[in-house]
Amino acid sequence: MQPSSLTSWRSQFAADIVGESPALVEALETIQYVAASDCTILITGETGSGKELFARAAHRASTRRGRAFIPVNCAAIPETLLESELFGHIKGAFTGAERARPGRFMSANEGTIFLDEIGDLPLAAQAKLLRVLEERTVCPVGADTEVPVDVRVIAATHRNLEEMVAQGTFRADLYFRLAVVPVSLPALRDRAADIIQIAELCVARVRDRIGRNVEGLDECAKAALVAYAWPGNVRELAHLIERAVLLARRPRLSAADLSIPGQKATFARGTERLPAITAPAPKAETLSTETLDLRAALENLERDLIDRALAKAGGNRTEAAALLGLNRTTLVEKLRKYAA
Ligand SMILES: Nc1ncnc2c1ncn2[C@@H]1O[C@H](COP(=O)(O)OP(=O)(O)OP(=O)(O)O)[C@@H](O)[C@H]1O
Ligand SMILES: [Mg+2]
Repeated sequence: MQPSSLTSWRSQFAADIVGESPALVEALETIQYVAASDCTILITGETGSGKELFARAAHRASTRRGRAFIPVNCAAIPETLLESELFGHIKGAFTGAERARPGRFMSANEGTIFLDEIGDLPLAAQAKLLRVLEERTVCPVGADTEVPVDVRVIAATHRNLEEMVAQGTFRADLYFRLAVVPVSLPALRDRAADIIQIAELCVARVRDRIGRNVEGLDECAKAALVAYAWPGNVRELAHLIERAVLLARRPRLSAADLSIPGQKATFARGTERLPAITAPAPKAETLSTETLDLRAALENLERDLIDRALAKAGGNRTEAAALLGLNRTTLVEKLRKYAA
């Protein structure tokens, strides 16, 4: 049982973080304990385990909540642009710098900067970042004066920074400055109860969004979810459930409806309401070859299924809706959306 102070803190600042497993609750308690202070937090955890979610909760629960939360993905910025992205530049600092730019630290002034994938920061940039954290001033590229900044720093990485320090790829002094409060997020595979809770919540959310008649998961589906290793953690689980609900052919999802990687994709088995679609489950990569955008891929798939159902029903919307397991109004709404 969580202490009531954590329960009310969660509902106020971290309502989007689902799960009751001890390791998750411990991470939440740490965030709750230090959120109001200005200390630096280092969040570690596998991809998709909720690092950004926790960082945002820490910001919301701090005195800086009305100010900016600026996420910076250190792995996504080319090395040559890092310094000006982070610290800004003056007009004419380099070719193409036609106007002065404030940089992410200045944009986060009085708020929180979230330095995501900090383990991917090159050594030269690490040295500059350390200086900023120690001096609490930034020097925009090309400028000769330092500008004071008032930012709370939350950093995150999926890498093992201690190992990187031992290998000489991450500065020890920067590591100690960042890891004032270390928070380690548990992998989803290690919290079976959370898997089910998050999956059920995702089913309800997707169902309500797309108007599909899906009640939940049967026992066999739950067992299959718990048995899988979830290398992509909560993000992977949410995407898998979204897809399963979209393709659902019966009100209660079974293991066969889930297309869990490595488990046989047999979703097309069972009562066929739409005989045209008896092919094996499309693999994620075949849904769209151009994009990894899940929403776009699912929309393409949805359009395709609607087209096929309409063709099969000879254009009769009531019949097509029945084939798709939708009510007629939902189908008409979708057709309107796709026609726009
Ligand atoms: N405990 C949780 N409860 C509900 N949703 C969660 C939880 N953890 C993560 N999520 C969801 O999973 C997705 C991934 O979370 P987030 O972006 O915070 O992960 P991350 O650790 O930053 O991942 P990455 O390393 O890939 O950047 C988001 O959609 C987030 O809302
Ligand atoms: Mg992230």
